Amino acid sequence: MKTIEMHGIRKIYPDGVIALHGVDFEAEEGEIHGLLGENGAGKTTLMRILYGEIRPTEGEIKVLGRRVRYRNPRDAIKQGIAMIYQHFSLVPTMTVLDNLYLALATINPRITRSEVEARAKKLIGETGLKIPLDKVVEELPAGVQQRVEILKALIRDARILILDEPTSVLTPLEVEELFQSLKRLKEKGMTIILITHKLREVKAITDRVTVLRRGVKVGTVRTSEVTEAQLARMMVARDVELVLEKPPGIQPGREVLRIEDLWVRNNEGVNVLKGVNLSVREGEIIGVAGVQGNGQTELAEAIAGLRRPYRGRIILDSRDITMLDPMSRYKLGISYVPESRRNGLIHEMNLIENSVLTSTYSYIGRYGFIDWGRAVETALKIIREYDINPPNPYTMVKHLSGGNQQKLLVGRELVKKPRVLVVSEPTQGVDVASTEFIRRKLLELKTRGVGILLISTDLDEVIQLSDRIIVMYEGRVIGEGRTEEFTLEKLGLLMGGVSA
Ligand SMILES: Nc1ncnc2c1ncn2[C@@H]1O[C@H](COP(=O)(O)OP(=O)(O)OP(=O)(O)O)[C@@H](O)[C@H]1O
Ligand SMILES: [Mg+2]
Repeated sequence: MKTIEMHGIRKIYPDGVIALHGVDFEAEEGEIHGLLGENGAGKTTLMRILYGEIRPTEGEIKVLGRRVRYRNPRDAIKQGIAMIYQHFSLVPTMTVLDNLYLALATINPRITRSEVEARAKKLIGETGLKIPLDKVVEELPAGVQQRVEILKALIRDARILILDEPTSVLTPLEVEELFQSLKRLKEKGMTIILITHKLREVKAITDRVTVLRRGVKVGTVRTSEVTEAQLARMMVARDVELVLEKPPGIQPGREVLRIEDLWVRNNEGVNVLKGVNLSVREGEIIGVAGVQGNGQTELAEAIAGLRRPYRGRIILDSRDITMLDPMSRYKLGISYVPESRRNGLIHEMNLIENSVLTSTYSYIGRYGFIDWGRAVETALKIIREYDINPPNPYTMVKHLSGGNQQKLLVGRELVKKPRVLVVSEPTQGVDVASTEFIRRKLLELKTRGVGILLISTDLDEVIQLSDRIIVMYEGRVIGEGRTEEFTLEKLGLLMGGVSA
């Protein structure tokens, strides 16, 4: 039975961008329906319309055969629709149970806490979602927080669950667990809509896929009847190379970055780096693997100058930079791409301002003013090279799709031609073609002699690009070696703290 029917959905944003040109979409009871498309294709927009967050310019929506019109998500929630974002909507300082209570109390003010608890326990039993109800949300790993979001949807009687790139914050094991739960929910008759860029995930878990390209629906197909390559072609209307050839090995040059016995505490005063040593040479990519939260972020921040170590040294080109502020480090040739684009970009500013944010010092003209002419050139260069859409440098960053924001964030640091690049999760939320593009750029930078520290939870990415790999676990380097010395299994074990 069809649970969702969307007909002729058009969306023109207030600034005139046409995100959807009359799209039809339908999903059935008991299916996992993938939604695929390049960055900016309109996936999030289509689903936000279904969830009542934004209104279509034209078109109609039917839920269980009945025409609906929402004023806001609350109306959609009443129709049994739930949407789960990458950034969770839980109150971090409250317990799981209190979060669930809050979610229910907004639609049913008379419900009691013990009723909520009973319902939550029943649902946990039925679905197998492992969730500690009495734990404070912020102390839970991302994968568990996501389960809480799902439970929150279920407890509000959601029948239609939309997940927008749910796996990008998860470890491989957590992805596996999420997929198990989604399969179980599907067997209970739920409709699940999954937005993802990972073709392998689409193949692994969806029953049907709908592909969007530039606001137009390309088609809906049965997953079992298409290959990954065919899906990629539907997305971009041309052949995409899915394997990246490593360039012939170049001889790494001299050491550009050295970390000696680095100790760092987090904001709560807990040790998060416990004596890290590492060395990066010119023309070398060092991959940093590990489950999120094992010190990688703090390592990157310490190198960028955003976090003070209390012991140890950071040496750039034989110069001790441990005490320098971030801007001075940028000037000396360190570039840093943070893992979260929320931290790296200013949403209320346009592409031009964001393009020069970390290198303003090199745009100051003779009279002490920023040379905006050159800044525009840089922005246009990034837009062109990284295929950012819409290609208008005056677009506000908050109006770009997630993947286009990511391309801007990476492009900005790569065009600076740094000495050392520290890059975290460079391809998070980026479509297949742009992922290959960014990876190629990293390899190109390497062949030009840049030393690269690549922090990524995507193991394929780490293996594909790195010359050497280090694995971090609880603030320490638990394993290290040349890439050929690692198998996926060995990496997985090390990431779990098991050193052979
Ligand atoms: N609030 C907004 N205002 C103006 N334009 C927007 C807004 N949100 C999205 N857009 C534009 O609408 C188009 C579709 O964006 P959308 O976020 O739906 O893409 P997407 O398919 O989810 O991409 P991604 O894979 O990068 O997340 C893009 O061109 C984007 O720049
Ligand atoms: Mg999106």
